[in-house]
This record gives sequence, structure tokens and C-alpha cells, in this order.
Amino acid sequence: MTKLHFTLLPCSIFEERRSMSSRYTVQLINLFSVLLCLLAIFPLSESEKVAGFCPAAYEELESDSFSSKLLIKGGTVVNAHHQEIADVYVEDGIIVSVKPNIKVGDDVRVIDASGKYVMPGGIDPHTHLESESGVTKTIDDFFSGQVGALAGGTTMHINFVPPINGSLSTGFEVFSERAKKSCMDYGFHMVIVNWDEAVEKEMEIMVKEKGINSFKFFMAYKGIAMVNDEVLLKGMKKCKSLGALAMVHGENGDAVAEGQQMMIDLGITGPEGHALSRPPVLEGEATARAIRLAAFVNTPLYVVHVMSIDALEEIAKARQAGQRVIGEPIAAGLALDDSGIFDPDFTTAAKYVISPPIRKAGHDKALQAALSMGVLQLVGTDHCSFNSTQKALGIDDFRKIPNGLNGIEERMHLVWDTMVESGLISPPDYVRITSTECARIFNIYPRKGAILAGSDADIIILNPNASFEISAATHHTRSDINVFEGKRGKGKIEVTIAGGKVVWEDGELKVVRGSGRYIEMPPYSYLFNGLDKVDAAYLSSLGAPVQRFKAAT
Ligand code: URP
Ligand code: ZN
Ligand code: ZN
Repeated sequence: MTKLHFTLLPCSIFEERRSMSSRYTVQLINLFSVLLCLLAIFPLSESEKVAGFCPAAYEELESDSFSSKLLIKGGTVVNAHHQEIADVYVEDGIIVSVKPNIKVGDDVRVIDASGKYVMPGGIDPHTHLESESGVTKTIDDFFSGQVGALAGGTTMHINFVPPINGSLSTGFEVFSERAKKSCMDYGFHMVIVNWDEAVEKEMEIMVKEKGINSFKFFMAYKGIAMVNDEVLLKGMKKCKSLGALAMVHGENGDAVAEGQQMMIDLGITGPEGHALSRPPVLEGEATARAIRLAAFVNTPLYVVHVMSIDALEEIAKARQAGQRVIGEPIAAGLALDDSGIFDPDFTTAAKYVISPPIRKAGHDKALQAALSMGVLQLVGTDHCSFNSTQKALGIDDFRKIPNGLNGIEERMHLVWDTMVESGLISPPDYVRITSTECARIFNIYPRKGAILAGSDADIIILNPNASFEISAATHHTRSDINVFEGKRGKGKIEVTIAGGKVVWEDGELKVVRGSGRYIEMPPYSYLFNGLDKVDAAYLSSLGAPVQRFKAAT
């Protein structure tokens, strides 16, 4: 077993502490001095520096430092369909057996989980790690974001990949390279920003050769990523033909641009102008439009970051009519309201800038209720984190504040506290909305999202009697700000096991850089079941073309 010791570099210069092999420590310190000189010549970009900020510690180990055989004893094993008191035996990253009283030899590491819940690791369906945003880049890269995720009980995430230089393939290659530092499993969604034959061809390649089964279309961000209805329709049709899921960011981008100008004309330049310029009605309108276009094409639709009653009511209506629409609220939408964006302190207010915006109190409760009743199906985060320096790019104009907030580390705790501790849902429902449903929608169940023999050993142990508190001072991701600052609650994830390795335990994080795997997601999830029959029934119901006799001349 090789254990690497870690040494802190001065955090006033770097926000990430890197571990060092003890035998290389001296050389690395020398290298560090050289680096300091280079930094004086080539300063770090905005996304790389956080003056005076130092995220919580982690330790980097090598893969063989972990026991390959584990027995989790006596916990309440929770799946989306069932919970029972049982043991879970893990070998080489796979769950081998789930039943009471498993007997093992001395070579097996035993973890006592009595009185605690043993559940599948969280899967975050919506992240933006290491992604460009206007003039800056998200503060968390694949490694730092995942370090936080593991400390918060999430063991897989699906990251959005934009086209680069107009090419989906280049986007895929660049993000695959960035993700090589991963310490947990991940998948990709792709973003479509325009339409031509090359895009169509590349979508096919992504699905058939690269393990992508979902494509996101932005109905907002005019002039940057927004697509019009023609592109959206063509994209939906292509998705359907490939068995891929169409995803939408539902906001009316033209109207948002008008709203922004209106705020500026009124002299409202602070963060509150962001929320005021894109009210719920614009989210409701775009969500309704996307739903109707998906109905026209008869293809499943996934609405990302549902933030308002207006949008959720459109989803509820469509589902009630039998349409295959999935709605994803995010942790911030469930746990916060818009009061923070009106804070007189710019840095505090700017933390809340995300699109669609966090809504007035009442929307949060409605989103929780919709989630508890199955109107909305799973919880994401939209983790797209920036530090206070980056947020300050918009100090004079809210339109320049980078859009996005944190959540990858906080989601599992916040959802437990908001939904289970409050009595809205049961532990099996918690597993469903934080893990299983995501695995089913993106077609990787039961490899992921379950504690079953044969599933990947991505497991958390949650103590319902312990509590958590969120703060930028103690979180593991990189930003010096946390939108959930000061939030406390019941239910603490005490152990995270990713790929069969105990990476989070006793408040300590031990990760292996490069151990995360790219999880290919095959097309034709359950959402496509029977769609061909519905199409056939539609065609035969048309009563057309009508056979007509030509009149004799
Ligand atoms: O404000 C947000 N949501 N930023 C990330 C990009 C997106 O729209 O998902
Ligand atoms: Zn979006
Ligand atoms: Zn997003």
C-alpha cells in the first residue's frame, strides 16, 4: 500500500491544495518557487485565483491504498423500491451481495452502519465543471468539483459539454481531456447551439460512438447560445430518431433581453435587476412552448432547472395528459428564495445570480410539493460555481455577473433535510429523486442508482440523528462564497464509498486523482418505450391521404 502525504501550498496563491509524494516534496517546493516567479510574469486567470481563500482539506492517495473488500454491517439498506435491514458486501468496486448476516473473513474491512441508512450514492444530473462562461471560467474543475461532491455524498454527475469552434466532437474531446483528473464517475450531456448538416451528423456520432444520450437546447441567452423554434424542432426530431433525450433551458430569451434593457433604463444595475428582468412568466412561456413542440414531434422532453410554479404547472398539465415530460428542480430552487438577491451587500446578492432566477418564497414550497408527488422527478444542482472576484465582473451591470451557483456538495444534505426530515417523503423516495430516477432516465440503471448485487459500489451511509452546517469556510469546492451559507439541518452523510473505495469518512476525504470513469449512456431509455406504437396509432388515425377519384374529362 502506498500512501501519499499531502502538503498545503500557501492558499493565498492557490485555492487548491495538491498532495505531494513525500519523496518528491523537496523537488516540488523548488518547482513551486519557480512557479511563483512565472506567476509574476503570467498571472493566473480570474477563475484560478481566490485571494486568501482556502477550501477544506483532502488527501490524495493511490488506488491500491484502499481495501478492495468491504462489509457494511447492519444498516437500513434503502433502494427506491424497498428498504430493509441488511449487510452489503463489496468486492473490487462491485456490490456482491445484499442480505442479513453476511459472514466474511479477516481480510475484509467491516463498517458498522447500525442505526443508519445505507443508500446509493447521489447522481447529480446537472453540472458545469470546468466550463467557460463569457470572459471567465467556472471556478471548479472536474477534480475540485468532484472532491466536494464526494464529501457531500454524490458519486456520479453528468456535465454539460458545449460545442467548441462549432464542433461537438471537439467539445467532446476537450472535455474528455479535462475530465481525466476525475476522482469519481461522470457522464456528459451535449449542448446544441445551431443547426446544419454537420451538427446532425455529429449528434449521430455522439450517440452511436461516444456514449451521449441527451442534448440540451437553450431557449435563453440571446446571441450566445439561444436557439429559435426551428432549431429546437429540428433538434427534437433528430433526438427522437436517435433515441436521445431532448433537454431544454426554458426561458424566453427575446423577452429576457427586453426585460434586461428595461431594468437598465430604470437605473436598476445591481443583482436584483437579474431576477426582475426574467420573471416566472417567461419561464412558464418557454417551458410551455418546449412542451408543445415536443408533443408535436412526440418525443420525450427533460426540462432542466425548473424554478417556478409557472413552469411546474406546465409540466404537471402535460404529464396529466400523458406526455413524457421530466422536470428537474435544483437544490437552490428547493431550499432558497429570492430575498438574498436584494441584499445590500453586492457579494452576497451576486451569489444568487442564476438563470432562471431563484423565485419569491412560495415557489420553493411548490417545487418541494411537486417533487414529493412525482410531478417533478429528480433533483440536480446546476453546479456552475464562481468566486467573489468573478461575480464582481458585474459590479456595475448585473448582465455581466457570471450566472451560476454551487450545489454539488450540498444537494444530498439539503434534499434530505428539506424533503425527508420535514416529513414530505420517505427514504426510498429520497433515493429515487437523488439517484435512481436519474440512472433510469439516462439509461444506466441498475449499474448506478441501486444497492443491488451487480451494481457499482457507489454507496453512502447517512446518520439521521447527526446534523450538518454549510459554509464556504468548511466546504471542499473552490469558491470563497457559498449560496447556502449558514444553512443547517438534520441528516449527515458520514461515509461515501465511490467505486468500492471509502473516500469520505470521519470528516476526512481521501481521493484518487484519475480514478473516475467516463460512464457511457446508451440511447433509448424507458422514456422511449412504446413510442413507435403511439406514432403508428397517430398515423393510422389521420384518415389521410384521402383517396380521390379524378373527374373524367
Ligand atoms: O445560470 C445558470 N443556470 N448557469 C449555467 C448555465 C445554465 O443555464 O444551465
Ligand atoms: Zn440552463
Ligand atoms: Zn445548467
